[in-house]
Amino acid sequence: MAVALEAKNLTKKYGEVIAVDNVSLSVERGSLFGLLGPNGSGKTTMIKMLTGQTRPTSGSASVLGVDVIKDPVGVRGQVGIIPEQETPPSFLTAMEYLEFVAAVRKIPDIETKEDWWFDFLDFADKKNVLCKDLSRGTRQKLMFTQAFIHEPALALIDEPLINFDPIMQDVVKDYLAGYVKKGRTIFISTHILEVAEEICSGFAILHKGILLHTGPVAELTARGEHLPSFFLSLVRKDRHV
Ligand SMILES: Nc1ncnc2c1ncn2[C@@H]1O[C@H](COP(=O)(O)OP(=O)(O)OP(=O)(O)O)[C@@H](O)[C@H]1O
Ligand SMILES: [Mg+2]
Repeated sequence: MAVALEAKNLTKKYGEVIAVDNVSLSVERGSLFGLLGPNGSGKTTMIKMLTGQTRPTSGSASVLGVDVIKDPVGVRGQVGIIPEQETPPSFLTAMEYLEFVAAVRKIPDIETKEDWWFDFLDFADKKNVLCKDLSRGTRQKLMFTQAFIHEPALALIDEPLINFDPIMQDVVKDYLAGYVKKGRTIFISTHILEVAEEICSGFAILHKGILLHTGPVAELTARGEHLPSFFLSLVRKDRHV
């Protein structure tokens, strides 16, 4: 099976803090991979390293065959990204922002595509509103759109469901599950373990920067285990040692 993303002994230190500690993992093309872990366990730092937003202290990683240390801009050009808590520029309208993204990424036929997304995520009435005046959930819809509008071979999303209402969570969850069926790959971080169990094929659990587990979700369910209880037992066990 072809690999979409591979990390080898990735480590990131912020001064004395080891945010990610010697993590190796690989993600197959065509899979939806969930990175799980308590607050502060290193998920965002991991995504930042994999998308060339921050340079690892040591170790290496390749994303769609591109070395994230040697060519971080090359990685960002190929993937779709929703960074943690990122919001679109306050001084552009929703539509202007998508047109800006389309110009940078050289996306053809942007009018048709943005209309499809406005309709799909139900925010056509906001297309001419300045981003600063959008609700948090609508800003997230826009961020989601910019990450997927060019249908990247790989999308990395830090908490895809955050800020979405239950209806929109359902729409987005189904979209993610369908996206990988076309052979594309998605890497998400999430705290919503039930959703991870439902839509992810592979997952990893980080705790205090250390990789506690990585493997297929099916391996767990075949043993009659569930991801939420597996996660809690692993992380709590670690807490008591
Ligand atoms: N820019 C930074 N400077 C210093 N320390 C940082 C920086 N970014 C992250 N850290 C630290 O690295 C560790 C991992 O943080 P990170 O944001 O990767 O965790 P996370 O798993 O994404 O958490 P959450 O679930 O809360 O989003 C934390 O101890 C955090 O305080
Ligand atoms: Mg985070």
